[in-house]
Amino acid sequence: MSSPAGRRLRLAVLISGRGSNMLAIARACAEGRVAADVVIVLSDVADAAGLEAARGLGLRAEAVPYVPQTDRRAAREAFESALASRLDAVKPDLVVLAGFMRVLSSDFVERFPGCILNIHPSLLPAYKGLHTHERVLAAGEREHGASVHFVTAALDDGPLLLQARVPVLPGDTPESLSARVQRQEHIIYPQVIQWIAEGRLGCKDGQALFDGQPLREARQAS
Ligand code: GRF
Repeated sequence: MSSPAGRRLRLAVLISGRGSNMLAIARACAEGRVAADVVIVLSDVADAAGLEAARGLGLRAEAVPYVPQTDRRAAREAFESALASRLDAVKPDLVVLAGFMRVLSSDFVERFPGCILNIHPSLLPAYKGLHTHERVLAAGEREHGASVHFVTAALDDGPLLLQARVPVLPGDTPESLSARVQRQEHIIYPQVIQWIAEGRLGCKDGQALFDGQPLREARQAS
């Protein structure tokens, strides 16, 4: 993916919950810190709090409900087909997963090569999957954090782009640790999008490139 020179990036943000990352990105765009516009917010959860919050900022926000069926594969195909139709209609430059809790199929991911970003609440490749804060505390880790990466068909995989580290403090609960991580998420996700908007960061043949050089490991937030 390369930045379309001279125009702002069009972002489609996918959420499932409260959407605090989506709001941080939208505010960074509105305040001129990121040269992009959130052209649509989509959620697989019809009553996701983030949809209302997005509308409160004047953003277009729509539900694309996931409808369970006995045949789970058919349910996923129907959902992804509806999602792809909405995305095709708005032609985003980037699809930004921000607390979007569905695993996308490889067919779907391959429709948007190098154009899907995700944020995960751990220092990937450690702690893929759910309940990262609880697992980090149970393991007695002294450090935790968040990672932004390009999405591939494998869960919480794909080229790592930027990580932020936070200490695990005595007395931390999953909630206190999550809040510390989220404050960093709200900084690093807009930063990655701005790098893409500036044309500094892209993805070619499954390899992240930063300033034209292969990015072999995640950059670290200062
Ligand atoms: C974030 O912690 C993100 O890392 C994870 O889901 C959470 C979403 O939070 N993928 P929010 O909906 O953006 O507040």
